[in-house]
Amino acid sequence: MEKYKVAVIPGDGIGPEVLKESVKVLEHAAMADGRFEFIFTWFPWGCEYYLKTGEMMPSDGIRILSAFDAILLGAVGYPGVPDHVSLRDLLLRIRHDFDEYINLRPVKLLQGAPCPLEGIHPGDIDMLFIRENSEGEYSGQGAWLYKDTPQEVVIQDSVFSRKGTERVIRYAYEVAKKEKKTLTSISKGNALNYSMVFWDQIFAEVGKDYPEVETHSLLVDAAAMFMVKDPKRFQIVVTSNLFGDILTDLGAAIAGGMGLAAGANLNPERRFPSMFEPIHGSAPDIAGRKTANPLAAIWSAAQMLDFLGHEEWGTKIIQAIENLLVSKENLTPDQGGTATTEECTAALLNYLK
Ligand code: NAD
Ligand code: IPM
Ligand code: MN
Repeated sequence: MEKYKVAVIPGDGIGPEVLKESVKVLEHAAMADGRFEFIFTWFPWGCEYYLKTGEMMPSDGIRILSAFDAILLGAVGYPGVPDHVSLRDLLLRIRHDFDEYINLRPVKLLQGAPCPLEGIHPGDIDMLFIRENSEGEYSGQGAWLYKDTPQEVVIQDSVFSRKGTERVIRYAYEVAKKEKKTLTSISKGNALNYSMVFWDQIFAEVGKDYPEVETHSLLVDAAAMFMVKDPKRFQIVVTSNLFGDILTDLGAAIAGGMGLAAGANLNPERRFPSMFEPIHGSAPDIAGRKTANPLAAIWSAAQMLDFLGHEEWGTKIIQAIENLLVSKENLTPDQGGTATTEECTAALLNYLK
C-alpha cells in the first residue's frame, strides 16, 4: 500500500471551507481504490496565526513541510494583514523555496459550465497555461529609497535567469510535443526591452530542439484580446509569472468562473514537495457563508492525484465535476445554484461512486 504524507494548509477565508471538501474527495478516492492512502497533517498557518504569533508560519515551516510528499493549500490573505506580508511569507515562500517553478493551470470549459462568450462551446476552450512560478516579476527584489519624502523612489526588479527561463519553456515544449498540441508563448518584447526580448530569444532557441511543435508568439495585450475573441487558437501556453497570474483569472472568467479554476505548483524533479491549490483567493466577500464553490479545490486535488501517478482518479474526478455541472443541481451560487459548499461536494461524491 502506497502511503502519501500530505501537508494541509487551509489558510484564510474560504480556504478552510473548500479544502475540507477536497480532502473528503481524496479520502474517497483512496478508500475506493485500495492501493494507496493519505496521511493528512493539518497546519493552522495563515493570517489568524500571524495575528497571534507575528509570523505566517513558524520560522522552521519550510523544514517541516519538506518531509511531506505534497501540500494542499486553500487560500492565503485576509483584511487585517497586509497582502504583501501574508502572501510573501507563506504562499510565495513555499513556491520559491521548494523550487515549484511550474504552475500548471488548466483553462478548460467543462460540459455544463457557464461561459459568458457567445457561440462558444466546451471543446472550444481547452488550454493549459504553464506559468513560470519561481522568479520573473515575482522575484521580490527591489528598493524603496527616500521613503516618505518628496524624492521617494521605488524599484521593483524582474529577474529572468537563463536557467529559470529555459526550464519553464522546455517543460512547455515537452508537454506540447507529448500531447501533439500547439504551443503559444506570451510575452511583451515591444516594451520590456530586456526581460521579454530575452524570453522571446529563449523561446526560439529551445524551439530548435522541437521542430515538430507548431508554435505561436503573442504579445500579452493581444493575447488577452484573443482569449476572449478567439479562445480556440490556444492549446499549450507558456508565459511569465505575472502575465500567467493575470491571464489565468481571465481564463477562469471564460471557463466557468473562479470557483472552477485549479492550479498545481510543481517541482518536476520531485526534490521538494509540490503544492496544489485553487487559483482563487480567500474571497472575504463570501467567507463564512458556507456557499464557496469547492470544485476548484477539488480539481486541484485531482491534479495532485495525477502528479502522484493516479491519473485514472484525476480523470474520474473531472468527469464527476462535469456530470454535476451538467445536472445543474447542487451547484453553489456562483454557478447559479443554491447549494451549500458541503451539499455540492456530497453530490459530487455520489457521481464519483
Ligand atoms: P478572490 O479570488 O478571493 O475573489 C474574487 C471574486 O471571486 C470574489 O467575488 C469571490 O467571492 C469570488 N470567488 C473566488 N473563489 C470563489 C469560490 N471558490 N466560490 C465562489 N466564489 C469565489 O480574489 P480577491 O478578492 O482579489 O482576493 C482576496 C484575498 O485573497 C486577498 O488577500 C488576495 O491577496 C488573496 N489571494 C490569495 C490567493 C491564494 O492564496 N492562492 C489567490 C488570489 C488572491
Ligand atoms: C495566484 C495569486 C497569487 C499570485 C497571489 C495571491 C500572490 O493571485 O495564485 O494566482 O499572484 O500568484
Ligand atoms: Mn492570481
